[in-house]
Amino acid sequence: MVQLRLPKESRVKPGKTWPAGKSTEGKSPKRPKRVRVYRYDPESDTGPRLDSYTIDTTSCGPMVLDALIKIKNEVDPTLTFRRSCREGVCGSCAMNIGGTNTLACTKAMSDISGSINIYPLPHMPVVKDLVPDLTQFYAQYASINPYLKTKTATPAAEWRQSPEERAKLDGLYECILCACCSTACPSYWWNPERFLGPAALLQAYRWIVDSRDEATGERLDNLEDPFRLYRCHTIMNCADVCPKGLNPSKAIAEIKQLMVKRTL
Ligand code: SF4
Ligand code: SF4
Ligand code: FES
Repeated sequence: MVQLRLPKESRVKPGKTWPAGKSTEGKSPKRPKRVRVYRYDPESDTGPRLDSYTIDTTSCGPMVLDALIKIKNEVDPTLTFRRSCREGVCGSCAMNIGGTNTLACTKAMSDISGSINIYPLPHMPVVKDLVPDLTQFYAQYASINPYLKTKTATPAAEWRQSPEERAKLDGLYECILCACCSTACPSYWWNPERFLGPAALLQAYRWIVDSRDEATGERLDNLEDPFRLYRCHTIMNCADVCPKGLNPSKAIAEIKQLMVKRTL
């Protein structure tokens, strides 16, 4: 019989309720906000837990990432998460906030009523706390050969593109590889090794439609597979969660159309 419950050691247990940090010590927070964070340490024998912190939002920046940084600096230095740019460009602070995959640095705390619940991106192995293991995600990205492939001689100056040809890359080049879409895709959850997932497929299409690229046939051959491309069932979670407002499912549909066209 299929086991539908998580194994006992993977179930998230209630964790520690931490006291307020240095900046609010001895005083009641003026505007408190409860932040509940998934904690997991692979070196500990205990399974994952949900720790609870209360921060004073009057002495904190407005974004969820500001709250995590405040907790790490003032309350619990062992809390582990990724971040770099703090402005929605690097994609490294992607996590599940209030049940939706998004970027912690562009998610305002004021948009969330009640407690803020923060988990790592779903259905990925967890390295520690809010850090998922994205090894396979990046390998899948590498597998679509994300660079210009040409056969003609390299021009003396740049590879030229008309404004219309360049416009075809809009809605694609903005992808920051945050993995919010792929980790929200049920088809990717069930077939993570074989389905490329929306992020890698959007990137594949970005090179397929690039007028300067001369490997379109080879790129389509690389995707012609019942799992790599065709596991997308147009569920649309990917477009719903993309923090850059992109639509991977549309890019996937365009690739499928090109597959059909080349057989006619
Ligand atoms: S549209 Fe396709 S890629 Fe996007 S969430 Fe649905 S199944 Fe996944
Ligand atoms: S398509 Fe959007 S959600 Fe997916 S990896 Fe790119 S930026 Fe992130
Ligand atoms: S820290 Fe770079 S996208 Fe959030």
